[in-house]
Order: sequence, then C-alpha cells, then structure tokens
Amino acid sequence: MAKKVLVTGGCGYIGSHTIVDLLENGFDVICVDNNSRSNPRILEGVEKITGKKIKNYKVDLCNFDDTFAIFQENEDILGIIHFAAYKSVGESVEQPLMYFENNLQSLINLLKCVQEFDIPYFVFSSSCTVYGNPNEIPVTEKTPPKPAESPYGYTKQMGEQIINEFAKSVSAKCILLRYFNPVGAHPSILIGELPIGRPANLVPAITQTAIGKLSQMQVHGDDYNTRDGSCIRDFIHVSDIAHAHTLALEYLIANKNSSNCEVFNLGTGHGVTVLEAIKTFEKTTGVKLNYIIGPRRAGDVIAIYANNDLAKSKLGWEPKYSLEDMMATAWKWEQKLKNDEKFYNSKFSGLN
Ligand code: WQD
Repeated sequence: MAKKVLVTGGCGYIGSHTIVDLLENGFDVICVDNNSRSNPRILEGVEKITGKKIKNYKVDLCNFDDTFAIFQENEDILGIIHFAAYKSVGESVEQPLMYFENNLQSLINLLKCVQEFDIPYFVFSSSCTVYGNPNEIPVTEKTPPKPAESPYGYTKQMGEQIINEFAKSVSAKCILLRYFNPVGAHPSILIGELPIGRPANLVPAITQTAIGKLSQMQVHGDDYNTRDGSCIRDFIHVSDIAHAHTLALEYLIANKNSSNCEVFNLGTGHGVTVLEAIKTFEKTTGVKLNYIIGPRRAGDVIAIYANNDLAKSKLGWEPKYSLEDMMATAWKWEQKLKNDEKFYNSKFSGLN
C-alpha cells in the first residue's frame, strides 16, 4: 500500500517536525503550505535531518480549485495531516472573520477532497484551547468543552464538530489531536519554531529575552489561585507531538480505531507554572532571565494540563522529552537563529 501522506502547513513548527517523524517511520510526504505564516527554508532543515527532499505545493487551501488539483496530481495519497491554520489568539480577537474564513474554509475544501478522492485517513491539528477554562484538571477527552476564549479557539472547536459530522457520512477515518503547549526544537537543532514578530507564546518570549532580542519579558500575572500565583500549563516537546501523528496514522491503518472520529489529548500529564518554567529555563541554560511581573493577559486559561491515558493506551504514545530537554533545545535553536538570522529572514516575506 502506498504510504504517501499530505501534510498541510508542513513548513510550520509542528508540521515540519511531523514530516521528519513520518519520513523516519517509512512514510512518503508531500507538503502544502502557502508560506503566508511560514518559511519554506525550514524544509531544507528537514532534508538535512532525513536526507529526503520534500515537494511543497505553495497553494492557499481556501482556493478549492488549486487544492483539488493537488489531489488530481497525487492519486496515491493515503492520509492527510492538517496543520495549516492561523493560530494567534490575540490576532484572532482583532480579526475574527479572517480567522473563521481561513481556518474553516481551508478545512472544508480539504474534506471535500477527502470525499471526492476517497482518502482513507485524516488527522486534524486541534488544541487544548477547546477546553476553555476547565472546572476540573487534568482534563480528559470527555471533559466537556467550555466556551472558547477567542475566535481562534472557536475555529478549533468548530473544526472538530465539522470533522465529527463529516466522519459520520463517509468511510474516511479521522483523528483529532488536542495539543497542549508545544515547545522546544528537534534535537538536531536543524528545525525549530520561527515566531513571526514579537512572540506571544511563553517559551519563544523566554528565549528571545535570554538572547537579547527582547530587552525584557513580562509574566502575565502572579495573582492567580495557583501554587505560585502564575498560570499552569502542560508543556510538551514538539518532537513528542510529532511522533503522536505517526502513531495516529499507524493506528488507523491497523484498523484499531473504535469509531470514525476519535480524540486524543497530547500533553505530558504534568502541570507546570509559568514561574516554574522560567526557573527551569534558568537552571538548564545557566542564563538569568530579565522578567517582571505584569498584569494578567485577557483570555488566559488559569490552569490546564492533560490526562493523556488514552493516547498512551490506544496509540502507544509515550512522551520522552523532559521540561529540561524542552528548554535546552529551545535555547540552542534560538542561538542558532542568531547565527543564521540572514538565512531564515532572507526569503521570509512575513505576514501577508
Ligand atoms: C502560556 C502561559 C501566558 C507569554 C496558546 C493557544 C494554544 C496554542 C499555544 C497554538 C500563559 C504566559 C506567555 C509571555 C507570559 N496555540 N505568558 N508571558 O496561551 O497557553 O496557548 O498558545 O497552537 O492553542 O491557546 O500559550 O505560551 O501564549 O501562554 O506570562 O510573554 O504563559 O500568560 O499563562 P497559551 P502561551
């Protein structure tokens, strides 16, 4: 059986790490990425790691004809892993319609192709953001979703509902993977996260402050009802997240699924506070971080971390990177970016 996987958003952070893992596990990969929020040069890093060149179709998935043409040209696609989406919580609050149109139109176009070309497997990049502010933690896949905290969060909740209903009407088998907080970089330090502009996420803010790109960072609040007053998150290494996608496909190919649409939490199962994450960074790297305690950030979930039993028992997934590994690889990647600044910024047009 052909093992060609179409990865959308494959020039992005989690997409590129997943392509590496798929290639290392015997799959062939093609990428679809319009590079509006990603740098095509990241595929050079993928090639250095795996020795394999990846074809990227620079196509906007919101254009149905262009998307359809990819499937006409590749009639042996076994599965799709769909990462391509806008993902900035803050930007989604400022431009909700752009988020609903981009994230949902692209998904619907892809699902139309799944139906038209009878693609057997579809894996969707979802997020713990669908849980909102949970009443109980850790959250399981059965924890009822709360109202999302942002239009970005709603696009993930709606995306899951669309796929759920779609899966009832076709033979395709689908999996929704709910990531907690993906951080770190591939151990080779040849690929990693490329934030656009000032990073909103914690770990890139830490590493950019540590390297001097940012003069100082803020901890968004230390007056929450948590053990040290700062928010709690479940930080998970991006390579552990990547491997879960390979395992999800293998699970479907082996017919182990019990329904046509299953959900899995991808987190370590351990909650870490923002201040603990900073302390771990400082201890691991020996770099003292320049931060102050600032006001709370609107929309922040106070505390969330995963119950990951289902992914462990059904997918055979076992996160293997520690928080120290996450901080160490994130820091090494930031140092590499400083040396290769021209390399990554030369072709990157930034936000369209
Ligand atoms: C984590 C904690 C901040 C920056 C979001 C999305 C999620 C996923 C990851 C896309 C919070 C605090 C942060 C800073 C800080 N997105 N923080 N100072 O908000 O948990 O998740 O990004 O895949 O879907 O919801 O991640 O890293 O932005 O914030 O104190 O400079 O770090 O307040 O408590 P978040 P985050």
